[in-house]
Amino acid sequence: MHNSWLTVEPHPTIDLSKHAIDAYRRDGFLVIHGFSTPEELARMRTIYDDLFEKRAGREVGDEFDLAGADAEDDRPVLPQILSPSKYAPELLRTLAVANARAIAKQILGSTGEFGGDHAILKPASYGAATPWHQDEAYWDPSLDYDSFSIWMPLSGATVESGCLHFIPGSHLGEVIPHQPIGGDPRVHGLEAIDVDASKAVAIPLKEGSVTVHHNRTLHYAGPNSTQQHRRAYIMMCGKPAAPRQTPRQFHWKEVQSTERSKRAELARNQGENK
Ligand code: NI
Repeated sequence: MHNSWLTVEPHPTIDLSKHAIDAYRRDGFLVIHGFSTPEELARMRTIYDDLFEKRAGREVGDEFDLAGADAEDDRPVLPQILSPSKYAPELLRTLAVANARAIAKQILGSTGEFGGDHAILKPASYGAATPWHQDEAYWDPSLDYDSFSIWMPLSGATVESGCLHFIPGSHLGEVIPHQPIGGDPRVHGLEAIDVDASKAVAIPLKEGSVTVHHNRTLHYAGPNSTQQHRRAYIMMCGKPAAPRQTPRQFHWKEVQSTERSKRAELARNQGENK
């Protein structure tokens, strides 16, 4: 059987205008249409649903409930998989990833690279909200970043299914205080404290369109009240992170103790003892 989709990396199709790149720099986010094709998205949905069905990577801490305590017998309200392409490498040979590599250079310059992927499923009718946060709040506070996430819903997204909302210009400030969602240290997900969302904009997307947001842009997604899954596939791009001159602490990371990190640590220790 010949299946070129599985063996050949497509040529990128996105060439951002200066106007679009200026808008990203000003607002901290950008919408791009035609990032993938209906045929590719259909194939990606099949792979995606299979990974979540199998809970791929759960034993090493790559699959977990972003918004809950993540106990084994809990129904996950916001399942996430880190690096789904580790479990389905064909995801890296998509037009979407080819376009991610291309816009990394267009927005960040020659040192801009595609850095990896993750996936957040908002299950039909009960998927939980993703509270306001800045992605950088999850990361190592000793480094400086210039990066963005490309957020691609595999069948579009509406306000009702959980599209992203952004606060324009919020990427120009510092990382603001966060806490584990609901103040529960067992929860992996973070929420920013004291967000003024009066200037927030919701960005519904049709199939094949994406939003791009900077690592400090405040963003949010509502719960999924529709009868369809909201499948977000997220591609991360950045310049190499550099050591910070000014030290800082992310206290919210120090208080967390998640089942996910315990599984990841156990898997690392078992790997070392082999
Ligand atoms: Ni985020």
